[in-house]
Amino acid sequence: MLNIALAGATGRMGRLTLKEITKHPDVEIAGVLTRPGNPLVGSDVGVLMGTPPTNLSITDSPKNAFKDAQVIIDFSHPEVLELYLLEALQQEKPYVVCVTGLNNTQQDILKKAAFQIPILLAPNTSFGIALLKQLIKITSKALGPNYDISLLEMHHRHKADAPSGTSLSLAKALAEDISLNHNTPPYPSQSPRPPHTLECAVLRGGGVVGDHSVIFAGEKDMITLEHRALNPSLFSQGAIKGALWLKDKAPGLYTIDHVLGFCQ
Ligand SMILES: NC(=O)c1ccc[n+]([C@@H]2O[C@H](COP(=O)([O-])OP(=O)(O)OC[C@H]3O[C@@H](n4cnc5c(N)ncnc54)[C@H](OP(=O)(O)O)[C@@H]3O)[C@@H](O)[C@H]2O)c1
Repeated sequence: MLNIALAGATGRMGRLTLKEITKHPDVEIAGVLTRPGNPLVGSDVGVLMGTPPTNLSITDSPKNAFKDAQVIIDFSHPEVLELYLLEALQQEKPYVVCVTGLNNTQQDILKKAAFQIPILLAPNTSFGIALLKQLIKITSKALGPNYDISLLEMHHRHKADAPSGTSLSLAKALAEDISLNHNTPPYPSQSPRPPHTLECAVLRGGGVVGDHSVIFAGEKDMITLEHRALNPSLFSQGAIKGALWLKDKAPGLYTIDHVLGFCQ
């Protein structure tokens, strides 16, 4: 049984992940963390899941939340990443980063921390997106430079960061193989699409869980590869799978591709 501490537990993904942890036969919740000032601090975790009391309280102290855990899953906010990571380093606990919208400084902090603890950087924990990434790499290589590549993503109206962490990682995967310049419309006014560029478009609205399309447009045909998340518990299940995979790993910075065996 793997003991997990969950950061961002009072948020949308946090609540879902708690439910998935309680249903999973191989993991147990050992710490539940939210931000200071959240009205649920001090309450029993059962209130988040609609279950009878569990004898585990929601805390705003990363030290207390992490102490009985073997792995931490973070679905909180980039603002607190450094603080939480410092505590994980102190306690030498593996860390699954599900938060998106990290800036360059935060990414550097993660890279440094990964010399001391295993870190899984997972802006999208679904198997389908990892597979999509492989498929778009194959497609872009096969089609060559005569096809214009565009990324289109849509998420619910509450999502704070844009483009999504997933869009950025899909763009990175494409740019690794073929040299592409990022280009976010609108173009300079009244100019045609510059050649050999990657176009990224973002839509936000309603309750859309997460749609990502990669469009390869040629002169005579067009190929679209698409992933649609239908239920956000998909991401919680992926995070738990990631935590189980990470628990015994050596210090290092890993991605979901490592978990799924797409890279060594
Ligand atoms: N990896 C994936 O596959 C995946 C999938 C979906 C979402 N995400 C990402 O996961 C993160 C959470 O998403 P969500 O939809 O659950 O967001 P959310 O509903 O806003 O929840 C965020 C959680 O973090 C806490 N929080 C916010 N700001 C904080 C701060 N400054 N200090 C400490 N705690 C803070 C919130 O506390 P309160 O409850 O008090 O506000 C809440 O518990 C986002 O970055 C999102 O993009 C990743």
